[in-house]
Amino acid sequence: MSQFDVIILGAGAAGMFCAIEAAQRGRRVALLDHAKAPGEKIRISGGGRCNFTNLHIAPERFLSDNPRFALSALKRYTQWDFIDRVSRAGIAWHEKTLGQLFCDDSAREIIAMLRADMEAAGVRLVLGTEIGAVTRRGDFHVESSAGGFEAPRLVVATGGKSIPKMGATGLAYTLARQFGLGLVETRPGLVPLTFSGELLDVTRPLAGLSVPAQVAHDKTTFEEGLLFTHRGLSGPSILQISSYWREGAEIAVDLAPGAAIPEALGVQKAQAGRVEVQTALARHLPERLARAVVARAEVSGRLADLTGRALERLGQAIHDWRLRPVGSEGYRTAEVTLGGVDTRDLDARSMEARAVPGLHFIGEAVDVTGWLGGYNFQWAWSSGWAAGQAV
Ligand code: FDA
Repeated sequence: MSQFDVIILGAGAAGMFCAIEAAQRGRRVALLDHAKAPGEKIRISGGGRCNFTNLHIAPERFLSDNPRFALSALKRYTQWDFIDRVSRAGIAWHEKTLGQLFCDDSAREIIAMLRADMEAAGVRLVLGTEIGAVTRRGDFHVESSAGGFEAPRLVVATGGKSIPKMGATGLAYTLARQFGLGLVETRPGLVPLTFSGELLDVTRPLAGLSVPAQVAHDKTTFEEGLLFTHRGLSGPSILQISSYWREGAEIAVDLAPGAAIPEALGVQKAQAGRVEVQTALARHLPERLARAVVARAEVSGRLADLTGRALERLGQAIHDWRLRPVGSEGYRTAEVTLGGVDTRDLDARSMEARAVPGLHFIGEAVDVTGWLGGYNFQWAWSSGWAAGQAV
């Protein structure tokens, strides 16, 4: 049995960050993972450039049953702290859009920075290790394929269920249940939405087409890119709304936000009435999309023949397209898992289970999920940092 001060399960963003902080405070830390390399999701994130944080971190940009929970950790370890760290490590970065910060070169630089910090602080990184029974007899005992580990503190950082192919498991939820913590129902987040029947017949021929769009569900609205896929819709605006959308609900799509196309067509009608509606519309929308919109609105012929009702239908088809997805692509492609360990059972400062002293949960395993755009990594850094100060 190897004795440590802290055992951390999961060498992702949150686990590594916690390990560094704890080890820099002089704790003997063992960090266990079944993967062959740490930070695999960091490596593939942001198209290989890792969108490591966002300039506009704010609690409203996170979803949770307990929305104020994340505030403490996000305030104590901020995006500015992480940006400073990345800059000090000599990693060049840039803002892409909407405050999203990416590495200029490669996500691997972030992993290298974390690995170097872990090594310098003396973290014992144990990879390729299957986790067995976790029990508590005074200290926590973790059985694993690399032998037994024992420590008075256990941090669970094994993430959510998203992308099982990359090693995601429900271990954090199993352990939370075992130790009597509550769970908020989990579901895939930041995930493409799928359609069937007539709706799919409309979207499928447009697969590969990308347009700026505004997508709304209830009172939540996002204005970002939208991508037509073979199964439905994707792109940032759809991924964002997917975290708010529930099975059976409708979403409203504006395919030309701010453009007031019916009004523009009205003006064109007065000036060039002989032009076909579809041709006129193609001045405002990609041609393939203009064709599909005209068909959906059941409008044809020349602008001069366009009635007020037809113009209205066209306006609705463009600016207020109501869609009812049948589902999502699920955990297979979801960037995150919504729900997780109930934050009401955790201390917001230390991420420690209120009823189980010494047991901490951090990162995506917890019921805190950020928007697309670097918010989820910031939660991993902030919650990892908070636990790292406490263990
Ligand atoms: P994470 O999932 O990173 O780590 C968990 C670790 O636990 C893994 O190393 C895993 O192998 C290990 N583990 C799991 N089960 C285990 C078991 N049973 N035994 C042993 N080990 C186990 N976010 C963002 O802010 N910006 C971005 O650019 C992106 N991009 C992005 C792209 C893609 C394709 C995905 C899937 C996700 C993103 N994200 C993102 C989300 C981000 O990757 C995610 O929120 C964080 O990685 C969560 O960090 P954690 O450390 O909590 O879990």
